[in-house]
Amino acid sequence: MIYLDNAATSWPKPQKVYDAVLEYMKKWGANPGRSGHTMARNAADVVFETRNLLCELFNADDPNRIVFTCNATEALNTAIKGLLKPNDHVITSCVEHNSVLRPLKKLRGKGVKTTVIDVNDEGIIDIEDIKKNIQGNTRMVILTHASNVLGSIQPIKQVGELCREKGIVFLVDASQTAGVYPIDIKELNIDLLAFPGHKGLLGPQGTGGLYVGEGIDLDSLKEGGTGSLSERDTQPDFLPDKLESGTLNTPGIAGLGAGIKFILETGIEKIRKHEMELTQYFLHGLQNMEGVKVYGPRDPSKQVAVVSINVKDVHSNEVSRILDGVFNIATRPGFHCAPLTHRSMGSLKQGMVRFSFGYFNTRDEIDAAIDALKAIQKEF
Ligand code: ALA
Repeated sequence: MIYLDNAATSWPKPQKVYDAVLEYMKKWGANPGRSGHTMARNAADVVFETRNLLCELFNADDPNRIVFTCNATEALNTAIKGLLKPNDHVITSCVEHNSVLRPLKKLRGKGVKTTVIDVNDEGIIDIEDIKKNIQGNTRMVILTHASNVLGSIQPIKQVGELCREKGIVFLVDASQTAGVYPIDIKELNIDLLAFPGHKGLLGPQGTGGLYVGEGIDLDSLKEGGTGSLSERDTQPDFLPDKLESGTLNTPGIAGLGAGIKFILETGIEKIRKHEMELTQYFLHGLQNMEGVKVYGPRDPSKQVAVVSINVKDVHSNEVSRILDGVFNIATRPGFHCAPLTHRSMGSLKQGMVRFSFGYFNTRDEIDAAIDALKAIQKEF
């Protein structure tokens, strides 16, 4: 299989990720932070080490402000529902994933006001649209770092500066950038950073997290056992325990730690460079291909390694099915849980066929994808 669906989940993972999961389960396997015995303490060390690695990657100071979740969706829900109150106003963009749009839709029913700003043809917001929509009660700006459909990278540095200046909380969805694009929470003035563990960070599915900046106090999404203050029936008010109830996915977190180590050892610049080269190579191969429409910036410096296309007026499901069944190439068709992106790009009927590359993809695989698309477009 030629796997070009890394925006959904990265595959394969580095061997050390598989090894770390197995080693954890066989060697330590206990419940971290619950019992005081050696195995439990070693399990807690594994979790703490991964918190530290995430701090190193994102330039955060306090590992206790990294909260583990089971995916970016849970992290985004924790941030959004933990902060916003009735009559608060939030600004977001039309290139957000449903993990932002759906919680906001639900909160609208509870009195939260929302403004959704549009993007240009490249799928990039204009910061002026944020500026002109700020109101006295604007509490939060939520922005994806890069669109999961178009790959378009958003100007989060400028938006972060604006939010800091105006005292607005800035939540960034790093689902498509964590691990493949540099993120420095201090330089970017990010208050809340939601990230999946299983995409660019190369960890197993069922992992993710939320960085909670200094001075940000979130209500818990769920309450329960934390292993701390167990003699009380009220939720602890300190991090990470306040937002981390129930037994963690420790095997997954062990694997995630190994994935982040791989990234730190390889160097994020090297990963980004490789992914940009693959994107450029693919875009070049698509140039002048009859009947193929390419969406998004079409410029590797303005996008992550995500390129969505359509072939003539063939439904994206059909193209993706042929890529899989005939050419053994994995892509994601349809609407990518991002309905407003598709509405904005005029693709709500056809969807798009999304190709998303990872560090382990090669030029030969891109060649195979281009050849397959040439063959498919001839058929229709
Ligand atoms: N959010 C993931 C995607 O874009 C699953 O495919």
